[in-house]
Amino acid sequence: MSDLKKIKDDFLLKLEKKLSLADINEIKTNLFGKNGLISSQFKKIGSISESEKRKFASELNLIKNELQNKINSKINEIQSEEINKKLEKENVDITLPERTFVQGKIHPVSQTIDEISSIFSEIGFSVEEGPDVENEYNNFTALNTPDNHPARDMHDTFYLDEKKEKLLRTHTSPVQIRTMLKDKPPFKIIAPGRTYRSDSDQTHSPMFHQVEGLHIDKNITMGHLKGCLNYFIKEFFEVKKIKMRFRPSHFPFTEPSAEVDIGYEIKDGKMVIGEGDKWLEILGCGMVHPNVLKNVKVDSSNYQGYAFGIGIDRLAMLKYGINDLRAFFDCDYRWLNHFGFDPLDVPTNYRGLSR
Ligand code: DAH
Repeated sequence: MSDLKKIKDDFLLKLEKKLSLADINEIKTNLFGKNGLISSQFKKIGSISESEKRKFASELNLIKNELQNKINSKINEIQSEEINKKLEKENVDITLPERTFVQGKIHPVSQTIDEISSIFSEIGFSVEEGPDVENEYNNFTALNTPDNHPARDMHDTFYLDEKKEKLLRTHTSPVQIRTMLKDKPPFKIIAPGRTYRSDSDQTHSPMFHQVEGLHIDKNITMGHLKGCLNYFIKEFFEVKKIKMRFRPSHFPFTEPSAEVDIGYEIKDGKMVIGEGDKWLEILGCGMVHPNVLKNVKVDSSNYQGYAFGIGIDRLAMLKYGINDLRAFFDCDYRWLNHFGFDPLDVPTNYRGLSR
């Protein structure tokens, strides 16, 4: 048997066996590599006599092609075998239903806080924050609230220690104190956030939300307070005119103090804000008490101003027609889907502030 025939038969036999890709590569190198068996046969051609050359070269080419074809088809075979194995292992059940895609909604309280913040920011208020866990001084004493004041009562306030030094803030007013202690006047801030009182029924929840307002400068009067609140309420309820009344009231931290009511009527079973002969209380306010300014080292002969505190949940209920406050904090997705806001579909008076 000629050398060529032997090489061919040997390798065809080898290629019949079960081989891996690595084995095939080895065979390829043995045949066609720099010193491979076939490559060396090609090198021989030059030294063969003219008469033999043609026959040898054509036989060599045929064998080379045959082996190459065999190797290629073997590689294809191994590769498709591997793919099939993989497919079997990683088989995907295309009959499974797809996972449902749940889009979140913005809670009405978050939405309302954003709306309030953007309305006040347009008239120069910046946003301040304070912690939910407050000390007794910021929450009461600095705000001119006497020791015997009913708000300090255990029944209203969640105290966090026996000495009653730490508590869950009962209003956002301590942020007034924090702001004035850390900076110098003028101040023009709002402070939205969570507040806590021991209270629970259809219109009260132990945790609720308020937004505090504080504007201190030279020559600030009650006229500014009225103008500011009037502007805010009209913007918030998206009405051109609003009936509003300031009712004398009392808060330890303001003098004089007032509560603000807005007019409304019921039309076709729906509450219409701004018109009518019914009144709805929506906030407390007043001119900041000189004692409060003294406590935060602001010279009250030079600086004065107003403050207000608004219940956010109440505003959200009024604007969006939600009648049970407790549902706000139940974390019921069906409720949130109904009353929540699409992040990309915001109400008309939303000016794209925070978040
Ligand atoms: N802190 C008061 C409350 O929770 C609301 C309030 C009233 C805040 C008058 C003020 C204010 O800043 O001036 O009931």
